[in-house]
Amino acid sequence: MADKGEAAKDTLSVRDNRTGQDYEIDILEGDVIRAMDLRKIKVRDGDFGMMSYDPAYTNTVSTRSSVTFIDGGKGILRYRGYPIEQLAERATFLEVAYLILKRELPTREQLDDFVQQVTFHTYVHENILKVLDGFRYDAHAMGILCSSIAALSTFYPDSKNVRDARSRWIQIVRAVGKTPTLAAFAFRHHRGLPYVYPENELSYTANFLNMLYRIGVKEYRPNPVLERALDVLFILHADHEQNCSTTTMRIVGSSEADPFVALAGSMAALYGPLHGGANEAVLRMLGRIGSVDRIPAFLEKVKNKEERLMGFGHRVYKAYDPRASIIKRTADEVFEVTGQNPLLDIALELERIALNEDYFVERNLYPNVDFYSGIIYQAMGFPVEMFPVLFAIPRTVGWLAQWEELITDPEQKIARPRQVYVGVGERQFVPIEERA
Ligand code: CMC
Repeated sequence: MADKGEAAKDTLSVRDNRTGQDYEIDILEGDVIRAMDLRKIKVRDGDFGMMSYDPAYTNTVSTRSSVTFIDGGKGILRYRGYPIEQLAERATFLEVAYLILKRELPTREQLDDFVQQVTFHTYVHENILKVLDGFRYDAHAMGILCSSIAALSTFYPDSKNVRDARSRWIQIVRAVGKTPTLAAFAFRHHRGLPYVYPENELSYTANFLNMLYRIGVKEYRPNPVLERALDVLFILHADHEQNCSTTTMRIVGSSEADPFVALAGSMAALYGPLHGGANEAVLRMLGRIGSVDRIPAFLEKVKNKEERLMGFGHRVYKAYDPRASIIKRTADEVFEVTGQNPLLDIALELERIALNEDYFVERNLYPNVDFYSGIIYQAMGFPVEMFPVLFAIPRTVGWLAQWEELITDPEQKIARPRQVYVGVGERQFVPIEERA
């Protein structure tokens, strides 16, 4: 970039060649311009003014946020300024949840209080069980989770007070506390097993594992290595700035709908195979490849665009996803306990070959968070349908922090993009008898 001389200004000069008119547009922090500043560019008085066209929001900043920082080129991820590597190594999930929601790491006293609040809110209304009963035995766990989190909206009508800070906090704690319970109940429904209620003396992840796996014993204590591994995975998934599901949370939240229905929208967005459903898709893909010798043939199909290498590529990361590196290390610890997942060999070889192929190198396609997470989840006994659910539980924290930021941001209002209409012009209605 050229040195700023005396005449340098933080503005952009634009000439409209249709009119020969020059405009000056302010450049704001983060190298952005306000899209509304384009409106002054007009051919005639009375014109609407210029807009920018950005399907899929690939180059549109929709908010100023202080939650998560990503440098996709360098593979950096930080929550509230703290590197993800340090948080994954040294913090617990609820400590990170507090950090994300309250902006600062908690003191011991603050953390104890937060854990107590979340624990207090782990139970769900018994009528939720009737909602669950309505689902078929083979209903996908993510569909059940989306529906049951939306149902919480009807149990907590006070959640509509989105302008009341105290009410918002209560809903936040409720959602963080109840999501694992709903997720575990979805799993038990699928298995046809009786529901196991939360146990308050267990940690967030141990309680979740207890609700999933306890059968026929009074006390269930998960292996501490697996409990910690799940905690680390939850930390890695807690937030990821303005992705598809977070943007959904903000868009639904911008109409001042309550946070439970907004969370249902976010979970629906997460469910798709291009987003949080990718971990499930990776496992299915590895299963289809089946053995290391079939990898080259599969990658040929990827290069011919007949297949997509699930768990690779990212809109923001053009380097190795830092979460994927941590997950790879966590996998080794989990496999010490569970024995190695045979799909790991296929995944490692797939990564090795792909990272040396021009197709992937030229497009900066590296493993993302979903490439190895499913292999760990499977080794820990989760069926593939639970993988996106395991993403949704911790991401609930991020969605809620982003929702809080949205609601308290004076610049935000109801989200409403524009369009360029390309349909037919006005025409007259033709009665059905006269239509050709
Ligand atoms: N396999 C093969 N080719 C790919 C892949 C992939 N996984 N990802 C991107 N490409 C190609 C794409 O075909 C395009 O090629 P060309 O320039 O020849 O048309 C080029 O790379 C650019 O891709 P894009 O589709 O424009 O990139 P995007 O930013 O729109 O998509 C993505 C990002 C994550 C949707 C995509 O990389 C993808 O579909 N990956 C597989 C699904 C996946 O793992 N998703 C999880 C993302 S991380 C966690 C999360 O967000 O939940």
